[in-house]
Amino acid sequence: MTSAISREQLEEGARRILLSNLREGVADWNGKEFSFVCPSLTGYPFQWFWDSCFHALALLHLDPEQAKKEMRSLMSGAQPSGFIPHIIFWEMEKQPDFLSRNIVGMTGPNFSATIQPPIIAYAVARVYRVTGDEEFLREALPILTRYYRYLREARDPDNDGLIAVIQPEEAGTDCSPKYDEILGLEELSNRGFITALRKVYEAYEPLRHDDHAVLAADIFHVEDVLVNSIYCFCLRALARLHTEAGGEDSPEAAEFSREADRVRDALVEKCWDEEAGAFFDLSGVDEKPLKTVTISSLMPLILADLPRHQVETLVERWVRPPEHFWTPYPLPSVPASDPKFMPGNPGGFIWRGPSWINTNYFLSHSLRGHGYPELSEPLVEKSKECIAKSGFREYYHPYTAEGLGARDFGWSTLILDF
Ligand code: GLC
Repeated sequence: MTSAISREQLEEGARRILLSNLREGVADWNGKEFSFVCPSLTGYPFQWFWDSCFHALALLHLDPEQAKKEMRSLMSGAQPSGFIPHIIFWEMEKQPDFLSRNIVGMTGPNFSATIQPPIIAYAVARVYRVTGDEEFLREALPILTRYYRYLREARDPDNDGLIAVIQPEEAGTDCSPKYDEILGLEELSNRGFITALRKVYEAYEPLRHDDHAVLAADIFHVEDVLVNSIYCFCLRALARLHTEAGGEDSPEAAEFSREADRVRDALVEKCWDEEAGAFFDLSGVDEKPLKTVTISSLMPLILADLPRHQVETLVERWVRPPEHFWTPYPLPSVPASDPKFMPGNPGGFIWRGPSWINTNYFLSHSLRGHGYPELSEPLVEKSKECIAKSGFREYYHPYTAEGLGARDFGWSTLILDF
């Protein structure tokens, strides 16, 4: 298959964005040095957790030293509890009004009090493999170990292995229709979403800093499939890093691989819906399934040991049919068959139709790994075509590849690591 765009052109475009979105300096609020790529200079001028991991993966193809700096800046945000924030506001003066237009719970004025999909162990492992830098691994391992223990201790109150998110942005798929009902959205728009989110934050206000109280309040308590698939995938990556650093008998390697098994088993047993042939999030203390198929329902495919029956059902029932996920420019964030599918410009009401490069990244690797080259190859090519036609945008129209959302968007450079 010939590509719409050459490797050289992709690298040139990616380098331009990663360089122009690079932010470096010393923070005036904690005296720490920072060096990271922001998702977009205009829309998102700070350091976002999972974006940063994606930037590091892209940087590995252009400048591995910068990939290390990106991860070091992110890890320097780790708190004594182990928590690493979803946003670090290194340069608040960049956009002083950002917080009035966006909702993030703050523990202090310089970072959010929320998490994001925990892909960091995988990103760090890849950086280590490419650079072979033992010192980097020695620095990173205790931070990662505390972080994944924090997730288990703070975010899994029912101890079933699955961690819970406390608001939709924590899952990285902010306005996904799967949350409409539990958020009580009165208006299907970004404005309606922000209003609903504000109410969640107001209710959390008296409980701030107490993860268990926040979850017990059962206001937004979601064992999210995308988050837990990434969590499980990364627990394996972390176990492997511990084996490499501490040998076959490393107790931490055993701890995290046991934990990965537990998360996989819980996903497979508790989130799978045989009738729908898909995985659903569990909502609330009473774990009610949120029966809306979205891109998140496919994410357990990133697990190499997902039972074959579930792999085949997801692929044949949902991925391959053009009426669901196989649109001309796949994979849409919501299947085309869903009445709420919104393929065009969402006006900020995101994750309700367009195709994103980061989920295509995970799913193209997964489909290849599970033996579906006839799907993974076109998915790679179609993702490149989106970039060839419309540049590095935040997301793309799943029928036309029209570029939507932010321009010069950092994580679309992930195409280098497909
Ligand atoms: C949006 C996305 C989120 C991303 C952030 C910065 O909020 O939903 O996943 O991390 O933008 O790019």
